Amino acid sequence: MRPLGYACSKLRASALPSVPFLLTSILSILLHPHYACAANADTITHEDHNHPRLENLPGLLGFGSDGGSYEPDFIGADRSIIGRAGNDVQVLANNAPGSLNINQGDTNFWTFPSKALSGNFSAQTPGLPSPLQGQYSPPTPVDGERILYISLTTCIQPSPKSAKPNGAPDQLKLYVSTSSTNQKPNSSDGAVAVPVDGGFGWLNISVKSDVFIGIFAPFSAGFSGFYNYQLTASIDGFYASYYNERNGFFIDSDTNSALLYTNDTTSENNSSSSVFNSWMSEPPVFSMFVYNQDDPRILGIQNSYCALKNWAPVQSLGATGTSMTLIGDGRPKQQFHATNLNGSSSYYGTTVITGNSTALGNGVVNGGGTVWNPVNFTTKSGDFFVYLDSSLFLTCFPDNNCALVFNLTFCTSVAYAAPSNPKNATLSPMLGAKYDEYAASMYTNFSRSLAQIPCNTTSSAQYSLARNCTDCDAAYRQWLCAVSIPRCEDFSSNASYLQPRALNQTFINGTNGSTSSSNPLFSYTNVSRSYYGGSRNPMIDTDIQPGPYKEILPCKDLCYDLVRSCPAALQFGCPLEGHGMNYSYGNPSGLEWYPPTCNSPLGWAGGAAVLRGMGSLAVSMAFATAFVIVMI
Ligand SMILES: *[C@@H]1O[C@H](CO)[C@@H](O)[C@H](O)[C@H]1NC(C)=O
Ligand SMILES: *[C@@H]1O[C@H](CO)[C@@H](O)[C@H](O)[C@H]1NC(C)=O
Ligand SMILES: *[C@@H]1O[C@H](CO)[C@@H](O)[C@H](O)[C@H]1NC(C)=O
Ligand SMILES: *[C@@H]1O[C@H](CO)[C@@H](O)[C@H](O)[C@H]1NC(C)=O
Ligand SMILES: *[C@@H]1O[C@H](CO)[C@@H](O)[C@H](O)[C@H]1NC(C)=O
Ligand SMILES: *[C@@H]1O[C@H](CO)[C@@H](O)[C@H](O)[C@H]1NC(C)=O
Ligand SMILES: *[C@@H]1O[C@H](CO)[C@@H](O)[C@H](O)[C@H]1NC(C)=O
Ligand SMILES: *[C@@H]1O[C@H](CO)[C@@H](O)[C@H](O)[C@H]1NC(C)=O
Ligand SMILES: *[C@@H]1O[C@H](CO)[C@@H](O)[C@H](O)[C@H]1NC(C)=O
Ligand SMILES: *[C@@H]1O[C@H](CO)[C@@H](O)[C@H](O)[C@H]1NC(C)=O
Ligand SMILES: *[C@@H]1O[C@H](CO)[C@@H](O)[C@H](O)[C@H]1NC(C)=O
Ligand SMILES: *[C@@H]1O[C@H](CO)[C@@H](O)[C@H](O)[C@H]1NC(C)=O
Repeated sequence: MRPLGYACSKLRASALPSVPFLLTSILSILLHPHYACAANADTITHEDHNHPRLENLPGLLGFGSDGGSYEPDFIGADRSIIGRAGNDVQVLANNAPGSLNINQGDTNFWTFPSKALSGNFSAQTPGLPSPLQGQYSPPTPVDGERILYISLTTCIQPSPKSAKPNGAPDQLKLYVSTSSTNQKPNSSDGAVAVPVDGGFGWLNISVKSDVFIGIFAPFSAGFSGFYNYQLTASIDGFYASYYNERNGFFIDSDTNSALLYTNDTTSENNSSSSVFNSWMSEPPVFSMFVYNQDDPRILGIQNSYCALKNWAPVQSLGATGTSMTLIGDGRPKQQFHATNLNGSSSYYGTTVITGNSTALGNGVVNGGGTVWNPVNFTTKSGDFFVYLDSSLFLTCFPDNNCALVFNLTFCTSVAYAAPSNPKNATLSPMLGAKYDEYAASMYTNFSRSLAQIPCNTTSSAQYSLARNCTDCDAAYRQWLCAVSIPRCEDFSSNASYLQPRALNQTFINGTNGSTSSSNPLFSYTNVSRSYYGGSRNPMIDTDIQPGPYKEILPCKDLCYDLVRSCPAALQFGCPLEGHGMNYSYGNPSGLEWYPPTCNSPLGWAGGAAVLRGMGSLAVSMAFATAFVIVMI
């Protein structure tokens, strides 16, 4: 699916500068494939605008050590109100962030005057198509007062003095006073001490008089440099927000990319509802920041939109790599395809809303952005491998034969890694379409057969009172997609629920497991067993040729549901326990839905809940070979 990517370009051997260079470089490439791929990446530095991610650029957070003249260009920071550090009390305006650098040990004081408090509210805006689950709803003010919404985001924190910092610097302290006798609050005495966590703090209070705010920057041993923050007060709503809840989940990855989804944006699944249609037709509102878990410098400010926004090692998805989808439970949600990732690496994906989703910054109600807790995910394994093909093309590809397949036309519920052949550059971009067309063509045969069953008759003449042909058709589609598009897992994984397949083939790196390996998995007996030696879908072995892979088997319920939903005349049957069932279908773990121990589009996001009620069925043993594609 994904092109080979930035770290892997195709070099025409004959285009290399000189013959001696050619010979030595090819030799060294063959001997040191990793070096070759890294060298390749360097050569594209100057053409690829995304390339700086490859280099370990110092982030803003690693910038300098003593503040000095550095003036960050933050979103929403109206330079006119960037005051001078000092102990004077500075004045905040409605929805206009006050932004300052503050050295460790210093205190800043701010005020939001009663005149601003009694000012006009900002004009109403359309907002999101419907409120999000758990989204903040404003309290009612005391009579004669107004609610003031105060938010603090730390945009920069002091940087660690050592390469391996011990934790994060201390959080800024935020104090809010409503008493004219405490105009410089610098402790919880007579003021509210607002908790600040991960670089974020917020407070709403009902008031009618001037409000005074103090910000104190503590000293942190082992860290040098300044903090930078945005402090905003608003009578309309919080400028910046953070919810201590995950908004999203990870579905699957391959070596270089991952698929993530937000939670459902609404519980509405009726396509005639206006809320449903607004979510689906308006531009996606969420963005996602993806960053490697190895870099600790974001810890301490990870809940702050302005910090994430300026964090150089972050990959930002929103303008691209995202779309609305109904996958899974048929409810609107947003899909993110994060690319340019490294293999075997752990990342965070933080769902955010940029500003109010259509505008951001100074003067915009909610213009400072909303952040949720990150989703934690790991990419599949895969070093890079170099391959010199027959026409002397030197190709560098991830040594992993599982590739993400999603956004299909027929198998709409498929969104996971499937067997692939990264060496075949023609195949890679059409892998999803190839699987989808295969499933769609199998379906054509089935629908012809179904058309011969008296489905749409009076209910007494129907094959079942509980199920009709619509149900049979749906069950067949789900089952067909799951069995014809196997869910692929790292071959190196030894999880007990994984079924080895295609052991009969050579690995994509050219190694032949059955002749070159002492691994008992590749014994003659195993390799000649149909359920180990080949794939369940023969097209995979002939057209894709992925080499040996491991499959997360389709959940048993997909088979039972098919048998239960379709007329007996179609003669569907599931293999019996102990007679092939365990080589064909898997059991849901019943606990966490990730990692899945079996593959089911029905159990997609809801986890095991959808898969209960198994085993109560009497299952026919009859096989209808025309439809049951290699049940074993
Ligand atoms: C507040 O709104 C009123 C009525 O719409 C308008 O006359 C007045 O000029 C506004 N005040 C400010 C400061 O914008
Ligand atoms: C965001 O704010 C801008 C400026 O106030 C406004 O025009 C726009 O309608 C707002 N967007 C939404 C989705 O409410
Ligand atoms: C604020 O309090 C801290 C101790 O909590 C103190 O070090 C600092 O000097 C105080 N700042 C002002 C301006 O009072
Ligand atoms: C806002 O006010 C309500 C009602 O007093 C309170 O329950 C809530 O915790 C407050 N939220 C914040 C962020 O201060
Ligand atoms: C998203 O869904 C997860 C799992 O159901 C839940 O724990 C979390 O609270 C939800 N988050 C939001 C923001 O609704
Ligand atoms: C991320 O998830 C993995 C696997 O579930 C877990 O081992 C790890 O501790 C998590 N990391 C964090 C930082 O939550
Ligand atoms: C999914 O397919 C649609 C058209 O079928 C396309 O517009 C969209 O960009 C695709 N999304 C991704 C993430 O590839
Ligand atoms: C049964 O009727 C439905 C709706 O009227 C139609 O979509 C479907 O194709 C019909 N099925 C058969 C097998 O005739
Ligand atoms: C089949 O049954 C479902 C309920 O199980 C019903 O919604 C649907 O309309 C039925 N389809 C036909 C073609 O009768
Ligand atoms: C080829 O890949 C297989 C499976 O990942 C591995 O066991 C084998 O050592 C690899 N061979 C080479 C030459 O790297
Ligand atoms: C192994 O591969 C050979 C050649 O492709 C084929 O003839 C044979 O049937 C395969 N065996 C199995 C068990 O898939
Ligand atoms: C690549 O895959 C395509 C599609 O399956 C196939 O037609 C072609 O022969 C393959 N090329 C190579 C070099 O294996």
